[in-house]
Amino acid sequence: MADSWVNSAERIGSDLHLEWEPSGPGGRRAALTRALRDAVRTGRLAPGTRLPPYRSLAADLGVARNTVADAYAELVAEGWLTARQGSGTRVAERTEPPRTAPPRNAVHRTHPPRRPAVRARYDLRQGTPDASAFPRAAWLASYRRALQQAPDEVFGPGDPAGRIELRTALAEYLARARGARTDPGRIVVCSGFAHALRLLFAGRVLRGPLAVEAYGLPFHRELLTTAGVRTVPLPLDEHGARVEELGRERAVLLTPAHQFPTGGPLHAERRAAVVDWARARDGVVLEDDYDGEFRYDRKPVGALQSLDPERVILIGSVSKSLSPAVRLGWMVLPQRYVGDVLAAKGEREAWASVLDQLALADLIDSGSYDRHVRRMRQRYRRRRDRLVAALAEHAPHIEVSGVAAGLHAVLRLPPGSERSAVKAATWQGVALDGLAEYRHPAARDADMAVHDGLVVGYATPSEGAYGAALEALCGALPPDPG
Ligand SMILES: Cc1ncc(COP(=O)(O)O)c(C=O)c1O
Repeated sequence: MADSWVNSAERIGSDLHLEWEPSGPGGRRAALTRALRDAVRTGRLAPGTRLPPYRSLAADLGVARNTVADAYAELVAEGWLTARQGSGTRVAERTEPPRTAPPRNAVHRTHPPRRPAVRARYDLRQGTPDASAFPRAAWLASYRRALQQAPDEVFGPGDPAGRIELRTALAEYLARARGARTDPGRIVVCSGFAHALRLLFAGRVLRGPLAVEAYGLPFHRELLTTAGVRTVPLPLDEHGARVEELGRERAVLLTPAHQFPTGGPLHAERRAAVVDWARARDGVVLEDDYDGEFRYDRKPVGALQSLDPERVILIGSVSKSLSPAVRLGWMVLPQRYVGDVLAAKGEREAWASVLDQLALADLIDSGSYDRHVRRMRQRYRRRRDRLVAALAEHAPHIEVSGVAAGLHAVLRLPPGSERSAVKAATWQGVALDGLAEYRHPAARDADMAVHDGLVVGYATPSEGAYGAALEALCGALPPDPG
């Protein structure tokens, strides 16, 4: 895991998504300067956006601190950035931001399943972040500030688009950390991914049938079925969804950064291909970016939405980054859907607490959200490393996949052994799910590259219980057949 980009400077940094080619012409410094300049020139990084300190960006990218310092200095000299003592390096303010619309057709390269009530000593079911790590103090401080500063109108009926403070903070954050191309006008706040799906389909903004990945969250499929939407399984292989097999549907739901639950990113060619498909069919891609912040290697997997903001709906929430109890999420919409989604929401905000929205805006603006994500990334990565090490020691014949990102991994099992492995785990006091729980009922065997497997969530067990949980898990795995 030498390529990991989680580093000791976690606490002081902030995230910056960059698509760059370190071996490009002119070496690393030139490549980094180009990538930063592009991000500013295209308007992805808005005027005033604060860039990460040298040390944290250098550690994230695996380059010398001077490389970052030189790139920043060059861009300051060119007028793209400003550097001021005490306020760090920021994107320069311009009277006329160059937020030019991309040319048409331009491709920019750049709940868990329903669970039985289980009495288990060790809960390794995927789905929730570490509840003990909710940033209580930071949330309280943000809530207090938000309340103190809120004008009286905040306590009246809320704008269904969401508070402008939050939409502005999200636009800056999603552009900076996820590479999204957005502005507050195309963001609609909601109470999470599930709510976004309800608004889009029960609200008749979009119509079925909807293509979905052959493995996915049953809860979301059920929600769609309840809304009268037929879902059609899309085959999966090691490069993600086989988007070339999209049929007559005009909408597809994908987890491009981290296929849920099998774990790989959607291949670059397929990212481009699915956007081309949507353009050709006048269709739309729904991007479920449920755990995009938690990547442990240096390969940037930004939002697919950046390829074409008019063809992709980027949907995210704080359910993995903070807690699913907060119930706050967002949609970054193609302009043509904004009115319909607002109409589906109704005349006033009925879902996402306006005060929580203001608190989240403050959390993001104050840097506390970045600090929390970076701290959690480090913690989850350590957990992931312990899982991988335990398997290498006690069950080296079991292949583990999907470990470059997220809060869960998939242990691949010999064909036909999944059910007995889940039972054996139960006997060992370990609660977890087999892959079968996530399989679309209409998926054929040929639709999936992985058949038997265990989905192991590593975020929730307490620090003290984690070692014993791993031991119990390894004890439940099928023996090496060789
Ligand atoms: C695949 C997937 N999508 C989306 C979400 C987020 O759902 P929500 O925002 O409704 O809590 C989750 C769970 O956190 C998930 O596992």
